[in-house]
Amino acid sequence: MSKRLYIHTVGCQMNVLDSELVAAALVEAGYELVDGPGRADTILFNTCSVRQHAEDKIYSALGRLKHLKEHRPNTIIGVLGCMAQKDQAAIFRRAAHVDLVVGPGQLSRLPAILEEVAARRGPRLEVGLDGMAQIQGERKAGVPLLGTSSVVPKGGASENTAWNKQWHTSDSFAADDPPRPPGLRPSSGQALVRAMFGCNQRCTYCIVPRVRGPEQSRPAAEIVAEVRRLVDQGCLEVTLLGQTVNRYSDRSQGRRLRLADLLARLDCVDGLRRLRFVTNHPRYMTADLLAAVRDLPKVSPYLHVPAQSGSNRILRRMRRGHTAEAYREMLQRVRQEVPGAAVTSDFIVGFCGETEADFAQTVELVRWGRFKNSFIFKYSPRPLTPAAELFADDCPEAVKRRRNNDLLAIQNAISLEENQPFLGRRVEILVEGPSKAARRRQADGRQVVQLAGRTVCDRIVVFDGPPELAGKMVQVQIEQVDAFTLFGRLCEAAGGPNPQSQI
Ligand code: 5AD
Ligand code: SF4
Repeated sequence: MSKRLYIHTVGCQMNVLDSELVAAALVEAGYELVDGPGRADTILFNTCSVRQHAEDKIYSALGRLKHLKEHRPNTIIGVLGCMAQKDQAAIFRRAAHVDLVVGPGQLSRLPAILEEVAARRGPRLEVGLDGMAQIQGERKAGVPLLGTSSVVPKGGASENTAWNKQWHTSDSFAADDPPRPPGLRPSSGQALVRAMFGCNQRCTYCIVPRVRGPEQSRPAAEIVAEVRRLVDQGCLEVTLLGQTVNRYSDRSQGRRLRLADLLARLDCVDGLRRLRFVTNHPRYMTADLLAAVRDLPKVSPYLHVPAQSGSNRILRRMRRGHTAEAYREMLQRVRQEVPGAAVTSDFIVGFCGETEADFAQTVELVRWGRFKNSFIFKYSPRPLTPAAELFADDCPEAVKRRRNNDLLAIQNAISLEENQPFLGRRVEILVEGPSKAARRRQADGRQVVQLAGRTVCDRIVVFDGPPELAGKMVQVQIEQVDAFTLFGRLCEAAGGPNPQSQI
């Protein structure tokens, strides 16, 4: 039987990484990757549950495949990731032509699951134990509950709680992400590396703790070994991933290693040029972490630290664990310790009970914070989250939309101002590959295409150059800027670090 695989991925970088690892495992098992569902006999969707919109898109894509399945009944259709964990068997009810539903913690079993599905042609559901649902049951039964942000020790005092049981059912790639061929990475010079899996925060709007389970940190030695392998394959930049990556904590070697310690170890890897990490929680931007960002030469001065709102009343309802003042204090420390650092944030507008006065405080924080950019989302109630149970989604869609547009306009004006100083400057870029526009132009065979890359502080730079520069570091002279992009001219084919281009 031929094994042609198509994977469609939505969601965060964690999902991009999961898809890469799934593809690697399946290529190893004899699958060939194809670039469209039409040519595939195994079609997998790696899904996101963070907003309704992401789920709707997957359900309609699944709907479109019903016809294909009728014509080619041997095609295997699978739903993976966060929506698989959240909706579980309900996916089979909404889309009866789906053959497998596999949660983010069970992806390492996928090659075996696919084999079984192919052999027995029955639907297969492989998801983690729903720790949250059980926690709610245990709470009623009087079982002691873990604190909001406690680390769950394997085999620790809370061994029998549902949260810990879910820990054990998440066998995922987290413990030892398998090696992957360089060709599967989105860009040859860059790689995503998992530092953590899951999340112990209980932000009321968020589905992630429910679908990705409790926080687990990967042993530092494994991360260092993986980064060494990636660098040997030509990778120059590594991004460490975790839902709350700055809570990284590895006790596997006895002494507790935190993110700053992990960064220090990775900074010593010869051949690695850039090191970054996402996503940070404002509460855990500790002094040792900021010192690591300031002092370790390979660590990028780029920090994604979501604030979510500027109103304390809303932050309390979101159960974020920080106030607007605490966020500002954290940002001031970042600015002091790492001058020139690019800070980015996420905001949710139209959360339950958000008034114009609350929104005005968010606007004020965005104005004051001068973020490089912000990701702004309209609140999307997620079934099974505390907010969906506790509060009414009472902000009308039109108000959400207006607040979203207003905040975006304010942020974009700031982003443009923050990009202006780059005019006329030379910056060092890690080239990712042809820009989106260039991919269209490449059809007419031009050898010089529009390339896109990023500065050390994550600014997108677009310039003309030969496609062979993908994966290399180059110097670019910036000649034009807008709010999202720096446009420039290639200075040289490849260059060493330029101390003047570190911001
Ligand atoms: N509605 C809207 N945005 C959300 N996010 C998380 N949950 C929701 C939700 N229910 C946003 C947060 C988070 C980002 C990844 O997605 O801003 O930081
Ligand atoms: Fe979406 Fe969150 Fe899952 Fe990432 S972890 S895919 S953002 S629900």
